[in-house]
Formats: sequence, structure tokens, C-alpha cells
Amino acid sequence: MQRNELCWCGSGKKYKKCHMAFDEKIAMHADAGEIVPPHKIIKTPKQIEGIRKSARLNTAVLDHVTAHIHAGMSTEEIDQLVYNFTVEHGGIPAPLHYQGFPKSVCTSLNNEVCHGIPDENIILIDGDIINVDVSTIVDGYFSDASRMFQIGEVSERAARLVRVTQECVELGLAQAKPWNHLGDIADAINTHAQENGYSVVIDIGGHGIGLEFHETPFVSYVTPKGSEMLLVPGMTFTIEPMINEGGPDFYVDEDNGWTVYTEDDGLSAQIEYMVLITEDGAEVLTK
Ligand code: MF3
Ligand code: CO
Repeated sequence: MQRNELCWCGSGKKYKKCHMAFDEKIAMHADAGEIVPPHKIIKTPKQIEGIRKSARLNTAVLDHVTAHIHAGMSTEEIDQLVYNFTVEHGGIPAPLHYQGFPKSVCTSLNNEVCHGIPDENIILIDGDIINVDVSTIVDGYFSDASRMFQIGEVSERAARLVRVTQECVELGLAQAKPWNHLGDIADAINTHAQENGYSVVIDIGGHGIGLEFHETPFVSYVTPKGSEMLLVPGMTFTIEPMINEGGPDFYVDEDNGWTVYTEDDGLSAQIEYMVLITEDGAEVLTK
């Protein structure tokens, strides 16, 4: 791109007054052998505006679930809460029909790691822990976040797993800033999980998001400090580690092709924030 051309970022400014120095800095990191983000995943101000609007509805859907989840309800009822609220507010649930997924939300209970399918026969009972993973499309922009819920009185064993998972995500978030690397987030999460005797799921991770549901990069939570993609302002991705009380291994339900369970039947928890890398840190778009 020439110095006097309009910048690729859509700001309307000349390249030399906008992202030229930024591109030169990224090129230096690339020359040093680092993985650097392609322009297409660096969101323009207009795209960020659209993504923020989608993320606001996503958070509202999660708040709606938070207000209504209770012992005795089925996960199918959670699906109905999510579908109805999303559609009434002008959104589309992103999971619905995504690669054949049959429902509007993922509901993953106890030993389920992720991608649990809502079902009228799965009834929440006292002592359950459940992840509700909500993803929303508004005007073509995607957002994604998940929360853990503790149904009634849960065991200290389950409560501790949820607490540590929350701490892991916050520690990861603290590393989400420009010129850090995805591995810095991963290392903060993995270290805290291991210090607490837990393990982080290896082959399932987070992802870039915004213009599509799943964009590059794949976000691992087990990679070393300083490794993986360089973080720069305008990137949008998820921080969503799956933390197991036992080993990291899992298997996928053979009948439905989706639900992921812990291999050793131990409990698993997951919390997901969607973030935007800003000039001086990260903005949580939805959580
Ligand atoms: N929110 C999940 C994720 O983080 C969605 C999985 S795809 C689905 O990627 F079809 F299961 F919803
Ligand atoms: Co996600």
C-alpha cells in the first residue's frame, strides 16, 4: 500500500497518517519469526460498532438466562429462553443449524466439557454445575460468551472448580493487551489451573470472532508464554478455557456427534469472555 493511499483500515485517513507505522512494527515481529495477524482479522471502527451491538444483545441473553435458570427446569427450556429473547430483540442465535447443531445454545452439565445439546429430558437438579454458551448474530456480526451456573447448593468440590475457572479467565484477560502474544494468555490460565490441581483441555479452544462465528486464530490455553499470534489493537477473539478437575482427555458423544465429555468422568467448567484488543489493553465485549 502506498503512503498517500487511503488506509486499509477504513478510517478514511491516508495510510502514512494511519496504519503505516503499525504495519512496519508488525513486519518487524514477522521478520523475527513471530506469527502476526493478517489485516482481515483487524476490525475497522465500523465493524467494531457492529460487533459491539451484537455483543450487547449476547450479554442481555445471558442476563435473561441468569434471571430464569433454576432447579427443575430442562435444558430445552433454556434453549427456548435463548431463542425467544434473541429473536424478539432482532438477533439470530448463532449455534442454530451451525454445522448441523440442532439448538440455539450449548448447555454443558457437570462432566460435559462443551457443546451439550439442550434436551427436554435433561432436568437441572440441586448440586449441578452447568455452562450456558450463548452466541448471537446481529446485522451479520457475531458475538459469543458463556457463564457457569451453580444450581442450588453445590459441593465445595464443584464450587472450587467454578471459582478457579473464573480466576483463570481473569488472569488470562490481564494478559490480553497489544504486543503481547496469545501464549501469554494461555500460560496465565494453564499455570493457575495446574497450581490448583486441574488440567486445561488441549485440543478444543477459543477463536477469532466478529465477521464470522469462528475466525483465525485458533486460541489455545496450553501454549507457552511468548508463543502464538501477536496481539494488536482491533483483534476480536474469545478467552474460553475448559478446565477439568481430572485429566484433560475427552471424547465426543457418538450418537449426537456434538456433546464432549471428560474421559475420566470428572467435572469440567468453562467460562467465556469475548474481547477486543484496544490501544492499551482489552475491552470485554460480552461475558
Ligand atoms: N460457543 C461455542 C464456541 O465457542 C459454539 C460451538 S458451535 C455450536 O465456539 F454449534 F455448538 F454452537
Ligand atoms: Co466460542
